[in-house]
Amino acid sequence: MTHPATIGIFDSGIGGLSVYRAIRQILPAQPVIYFADQQHVPYGSRPLEEVRHFSEAITRFLIQHGAALIVVACNTASAAALHHLRATFPNIPFVGMEPAVKPAAETTRSGKVGVLATPATFQGALYASVVERFATGVKLLTDTCNGLVQEIEAGRLDGNPARRILQSALAPMLQEGIDTVVLGCTHYPFVIPLIEEICGPGVRVIDPAPAVARQTRRLLELHNLLAEGEQAAEVHFYTSGDANILRQQVARLLGEHGTYHTARWEDHRIFEVHPAL
Ligand code: DGL
Repeated sequence: MTHPATIGIFDSGIGGLSVYRAIRQILPAQPVIYFADQQHVPYGSRPLEEVRHFSEAITRFLIQHGAALIVVACNTASAAALHHLRATFPNIPFVGMEPAVKPAAETTRSGKVGVLATPATFQGALYASVVERFATGVKLLTDTCNGLVQEIEAGRLDGNPARRILQSALAPMLQEGIDTVVLGCTHYPFVIPLIEEICGPGVRVIDPAPAVARQTRRLLELHNLLAEGEQAAEVHFYTSGDANILRQQVARLLGEHGTYHTARWEDHRIFEVHPAL
């Protein structure tokens, strides 16, 4: 292979960066193109059909820009669109997200598990199927943490609003005796310190990103797309919001790197705006 295959990653915003970070750690030589649909964030309170339309257009854009494998780094978009995307783009391998109920159910001792995800994720068939397959004999307590995605997008990772939202989600769960919290939204790993502070040391917090990164590597290998080596490959970040703001967000969360581009929606399609930053 002369040009290593590019991974396309997308999310409604910066949540997918928690997945990107894990992918980058084990696949540094793989070029990445990341799309943050910050014009439409949050996805979690939108109808599944609308999120499906966004996801299809973003996937098309990523493929046009060279992506050979797509990671849907958003639980909400996976719930709304993963089946549809696999059917619409049969030649592209997809990695999706689902709430990590399986590992939680396997390791809980109290038999009580908290799941934090968006309303759309809880409505989707994917969550119902995960619960049916893996949660037998386990009590799941759920909360949609309304407003938390917006706090994280605004960079207020330990402010009072985020604290209040998480406290009111977790307090009743802790009272019921949960010993595990599943992060069913890719934005939430950025508030793990706050979640751990509220829950205390007896509760395990499951961030699915490392498992998703390993699955990405398996699929790349399977399709003969894996880039060898340790040399850091190029990363391009696109946002339908403001590329300058995205650059600051990435720098704050992950350190400085990458090239930044603005994209705009027009007629249900996405166009790149020049120049890049
Ligand atoms: N990060 C996303 C998820 O995993 C979407 C959150 C949102 O936009 O509401 O669900």
